[in-house]
Amino acid sequence: MTNKIKPEHKSVLLEQVVNYAMPPKGEIFVDGTFGLGGHTRAILDNYKNIKLAIGIDRDSEILNYARDTFDEPRLSLFQAKASELPMVLEYAGVKGADGILLDLGVSSYQLDNPDRGFSFSKSGPLDMRMNMNEGETAADLVNNLSKEELQKIIFEFGEERFGRKIAEAIVKYRETKLFETTDELAKVVCEVVPSLPKNQNHIHPATRTFQALRIAVNHELDEISDFLEIALECLNPGGHLSIISFHSLEDRLVKNFIQKNAKGCVCPPQFPVCVCGKKPTIKVLTKKAIFAEESEIQQNPRARSARLRSIAKL
Ligand SMILES: C[S@@+](CC[C@H](N)C(=O)[O-])C[C@H]1O[C@@H](n2cnc3c(N)ncnc32)[C@H](O)[C@@H]1O
Repeated sequence: MTNKIKPEHKSVLLEQVVNYAMPPKGEIFVDGTFGLGGHTRAILDNYKNIKLAIGIDRDSEILNYARDTFDEPRLSLFQAKASELPMVLEYAGVKGADGILLDLGVSSYQLDNPDRGFSFSKSGPLDMRMNMNEGETAADLVNNLSKEELQKIIFEFGEERFGRKIAEAIVKYRETKLFETTDELAKVVCEVVPSLPKNQNHIHPATRTFQALRIAVNHELDEISDFLEIALECLNPGGHLSIISFHSLEDRLVKNFIQKNAKGCVCPPQFPVCVCGKKPTIKVLTKKAIFAEESEIQQNPRARSARLRSIAKL
């Protein structure tokens, strides 16, 4: 661990995830975003037929902690991207999974640890990489991308309407000094984004910019798209795939994936008989996204934006 923080993370929608995670007799479970393993723990406790649980995380720091503390003979942990699942399954010596879970985003531990650079409320290096051994940091992006590229990232991944102003302010700042820390960036953003009073659904003015950069640094949306197709291939027939997303950009990808695969014939309506032969490949288990109860949100405000969707492979 790079600092003395005791890792903590409250798993969201725990009971609901347990309900959908696996077919009752499933034997192989994959947690593609293991984190501190809260969901995996609950699933292992509730599905006694599980012979092997595979935990995957991009973050070696969190996995090292889990290796030292998660006492479970049925668990194998792998540092990888969730989209590298086929390679992980091969390594684990199994052909397919009966339950696959993805709980997107970062854990509270990553957010609360200033050394990781995810949070605008704590000063630290402007990093934001889930895997600290590869790829460009958030500092690399804000120091090197053009104004137009920054504006696009902040607008699209942050859904931030002040994207242009923020990109201009970033480019102006770096003319005199390159960005190194989270608070430098947060300060520059706060200078151009008006903050709303608390009673108007106030969020910190830098929230959307930090979200946008985190998504860009970790290529999160490409990763989700790749993962969804791959996960379906890796599921055994009857197996369940469950995804918890936290914002509309993630959820849109999940919804589109579900719609595409739950649909049968795509022939134009005027065709008297089907010529496309397309059959649904999945059954939707959650007709609508499942949200946290108010009682959970009171205990864990992060659960407010969490939504769970689950499907079974036909
Ligand atoms: C929200 S946390 C998961 C928390 C976990 N479900 C629990 O109950 O403790 C997300 C974790 O997934 C990891 N992660 C996010 N996207 C990933 C991906 N595409 N592949 C592998 N790990 C990923 C992050 O590093 C983080 O540790």
